[in-house]
Amino acid sequence: MSPAPRPQAAGPRAAGGRGLTAARGARPETAVWHRALLLALGGASLVAGLDAALVLLGLPAPAGGGAASPLAASHGTLMVLGFVGTLIALERAVALRRAWGYAAPALLGGGALAQLAPWGPAWPARLALLAGAVAFALVYVPLWRRQRDPAVLVQALGAVAAAGAAGLLAAGVAVPAVVPWLATFLIATIAGERLELARLRIRGRWAEPLLVAGNGALVALCPATLLWPAAGYPLFGLALLVLAAWLVRYDVARATIRSTGLPRYVAACLLAGYAWLAVAAGVCLLVPGAPSGAAYDAFLHAVFLGFVMSMVMAHAPVILPAVLRRPLPYRPAMWAAAVLLHATLLLRLGVGDARGDAAAWQWGGAGNVLAVLAFVLLAAYSVARPGEPRAATEPRTVREPRP
Ligand code: HEM
Repeated sequence: MSPAPRPQAAGPRAAGGRGLTAARGARPETAVWHRALLLALGGASLVAGLDAALVLLGLPAPAGGGAASPLAASHGTLMVLGFVGTLIALERAVALRRAWGYAAPALLGGGALAQLAPWGPAWPARLALLAGAVAFALVYVPLWRRQRDPAVLVQALGAVAAAGAAGLLAAGVAVPAVVPWLATFLIATIAGERLELARLRIRGRWAEPLLVAGNGALVALCPATLLWPAAGYPLFGLALLVLAAWLVRYDVARATIRSTGLPRYVAACLLAGYAWLAVAAGVCLLVPGAPSGAAYDAFLHAVFLGFVMSMVMAHAPVILPAVLRRPLPYRPAMWAAAVLLHATLLLRLGVGDARGDAAAWQWGGAGNVLAVLAFVLLAAYSVARPGEPRAATEPRTVREPRP
């Protein structure tokens, strides 16, 4: 295997820790296989979620079923809790360095896929998702004790939103009413993550409390969107706008966009993601009450594709090596997947949703699927055949809390 690029140095060993299995006397390769298996659960959720997306777009899909099939109905939870949730929970479990932390990704990935079982009631899968989200939130208790840092606090707020979302879904609340909770889960997790790096640019005392307050407001407004959507959604949009402005103002991306290679690619993905977060805020502020129809699609995918998926594309070359202990070298071809994602999202939302053009909506959605698939295949190829890894040089703090 080629030598690991710098991000690997952000793993448990580099943090001065012993690594999960090393701490327990097991062979490190075993841990890597366990993690790869959990990563595969997240990958399977993504594949199923993409198939479901094609069904929801009304396009031919490899595993068909109508728009009312369990597959199509599970698209949102497959993507948010099954795919991104499993990735995040796995990365946090690696940071925690305790075996029980891995229950969270196992239950989230397993629970998301269990929704697709054609037999039996739906509640066991929903209960597994709830157990996974609660386990994920509990991971932040020891993490917070190790490092009482606003970055951990903001991410913990995201975990609370995830547990709230899973609890509501288990209680039978419909996905559209839970979307703000799901969005808050991912937005707060990413914002906390970016805070670690933003410290390089933060001057003044108020920036960090403002980020904590903004994410706290998102969590507090989740019940408001459910109970009083007419007031809850505009306030939620306002909090999103403040967060988007905060991220643009303080993230190192505004400086690293002027560099080259991986740092520039990461910065471009981040800045594009922040712009989409502002678009989502705009939908909440301009559309009265809970978004529905085209506004619902626009709000959902400005957050989940424009912001979240762009962040996944940005962070994959850093996070996957930390989890798998294999380099994911930067390749210029990653730009192609990222540009395709944003261009087709612009077509889907800007023409399809905004102008009611069904063909643009479908073409844009199909392009979104292609962009995500292209990135995943490129990442898988790069991990399997690292070739000549280029140094991953985005400035990076150690991911794990200091023991
Ligand atoms: C990759 C391309 C994607 C396509 C083509 C796509 C397509 C769709 C469509 C057509 C809908 C139904 C919208 C409506 O009812 O108006 C939908 C709903 C949804 N999508 Fe996506 N999606 C994609 C990716 C994602 C991702 C990556 C996430 C999350 C990380 C996500 C989360 C959701 C959620 C939460 C819903 C709401 C589900 C519900 O109401 O039951 N989507 N998606």
